[in-house]
Amino acid sequence: KIAQESATARKRWKLAKELVLRKLNVRTERFRRAYSQIDKERALQLDKDKLTLSGIVSRAAENRPQRPMLEVAFKGLTLSIGKKKLLQCVTGKLSPGRITAIMGPSGAGKTTFLNAVLGKTSGYKKDGLVLVNGKSGSMQSYKKIIGFVPQDDIVHGNLTVEENLWFSGCCRLSKSMSKADKVLILERVIGSLGLQEIRNSLVGTVEKRGISGGQRKRVNVGIEMVMEPSLLILDEPTTGLDSASSQQLLRALRHEASQGVNVCAVIHQPSYTLFNMFDDFVLLARGGLIAYHGPISEVENYFSGLGIKVPDRENPPDYYIDILEGIAKTKMRGHATPKHLPLLWILHNGYEVPEDMQKDLEEINMMHELYTVGSITRELSSVEQTKSKDSVHQNVSQRNDLLNRKTPGVLAQYRYYLGRVAKQRLREATQQAVDYLILCIAGICIGTITKVNDDTLGAASYGYTIIAVSLLCQLAALRSFSPERLQYWRERESGMSSVAYFLARDTIDHFNTVVKPIVFLSTFYFFNNPRSTLRDNYLVLLALVYCVTGIGYTLAIWFELGLAQL
Ligand SMILES: Nc1ncnc2c1ncn2[C@@H]1O[C@H](COP(=O)(O)OP(=O)(O)O)[C@@H](O)[C@H]1O
Ligand SMILES: [Mg+2]
Repeated sequence: KIAQESATARKRWKLAKELVLRKLNVRTERFRRAYSQIDKERALQLDKDKLTLSGIVSRAAENRPQRPMLEVAFKGLTLSIGKKKLLQCVTGKLSPGRITAIMGPSGAGKTTFLNAVLGKTSGYKKDGLVLVNGKSGSMQSYKKIIGFVPQDDIVHGNLTVEENLWFSGCCRLSKSMSKADKVLILERVIGSLGLQEIRNSLVGTVEKRGISGGQRKRVNVGIEMVMEPSLLILDEPTTGLDSASSQQLLRALRHEASQGVNVCAVIHQPSYTLFNMFDDFVLLARGGLIAYHGPISEVENYFSGLGIKVPDRENPPDYYIDILEGIAKTKMRGHATPKHLPLLWILHNGYEVPEDMQKDLEEINMMHELYTVGSITRELSSVEQTKSKDSVHQNVSQRNDLLNRKTPGVLAQYRYYLGRVAKQRLREATQQAVDYLILCIAGICIGTITKVNDDTLGAASYGYTIIAVSLLCQLAALRSFSPERLQYWRERESGMSSVAYFLARDTIDHFNTVVKPIVFLSTFYFFNNPRSTLRDNYLVLLALVYCVTGIGYTLAIWFELGLAQL
């Protein structure tokens, strides 16, 4: 009751609740150590100031080791498919320790831009350069320290929140890291994403509801945060979240950035507060053209220099997108129209004007004053740039070994996978029981309708047995891989081992291969009473189930679930 009235009491009540939750949770010495470390960190932070944004940023100076830094720069990057250009003349860079917001109308090429950052450009025709830490090289070779949060929540529904995060951390953190440190990282992520209260709840699926949509979204982000990435890329992480959850998520991202992580997120319609929590802003116009790429603090300056003033009670980013889309009308300086914005940005920075824009250039040629708007900020920022560049490159040369992180090998991952798959299987126990029940019933039916006599020696009963057991085991084998395709792809993209995954699933399924013939024979042998021995029957059926499971795997891996069943 008191907590409802006073803010400090509320804070204390929250802390007390958390402590109780933890008491239930402290299982091992490691967790206790992690908690005491986190408490120390929190006390330090409270000392510094009362949970303001600048307070979180200032914590960067703490003694915690910084991550290796990854800077991504583009020079005249153009991606196209056939004649269609998806990204054009992208020049700029994403710096470590900063959060970049990418915005633009839908279909502008934001996801394509992220793919370019990730180095997934294999399907496109590519011009221009992508530089990583000042060197041209493939982003894919840094895959183990890049976290990509996909737009859809691809999480394991039948694992708890904590298990989801823990698994990702185990398989993707450096193998030389001690378990205690991994626990500490896990606890930090759970704390900063506010998942403490639901850490032991099953995530759930569309059919079987678990945690709420917003919470699931945060788990989706957490999966990438626990592997301590140097570059964190998020596709619409705040879509569908309420304002409070979005801010919490951004605070967690800010915290990451304070450790030198390069964060880059596509967002839609951020609130004004949320927008100001970002450092840099990339505005994409249709056709993958950059209309602005620079610090948030200078956006309004730049656009007002072009004669675009944000009206009162309008959110700047939304207004700029409306202008780009031609929904909001404004009078710009000179003869420029909104469609010239990308060109103006190119001129502003003194980049080379591509050929197909030369015509537009003539239209707006009279506005010389625009170029001078740019040159001032450019000079300023070039000083800053060299400064930050130096620090980045210094950092890189010191920690080059950290850039190629050694994650656990196939064997270690196999162990982690084995534990996970076993857990998942136990939670699907009813499904398993139903499978066995159907086999029993099939055994009874086939056993009673076919008769063993001297002429046929019971050939018909074996014919039916092969059909029934093959079909039933095949369907079960399909279920082994198909429903987890998306999760599998996500894990594979992030550098986890496919071999370990397959072997772990296969190992657990061997239990079924051994048990299923017994289940079937337990009724069939009794009702049919064939002349061959039980042992021979078992061995033949075991071979059958083994083969059929293999075929089931192949089909499940190559085809969609529906097609595979067919
Ligand atoms: N693989 C592709 N083949 C053809 N067109 C594509 C491909 N990927 C994206 N596009 C097109 O590029 C444009 C930008 O797409 P996208 O980057 O997904 O936009 P958004 O900004 O909404 O994320 C869209 O018009 C889309 O149709
Ligand atoms: Mg998109």
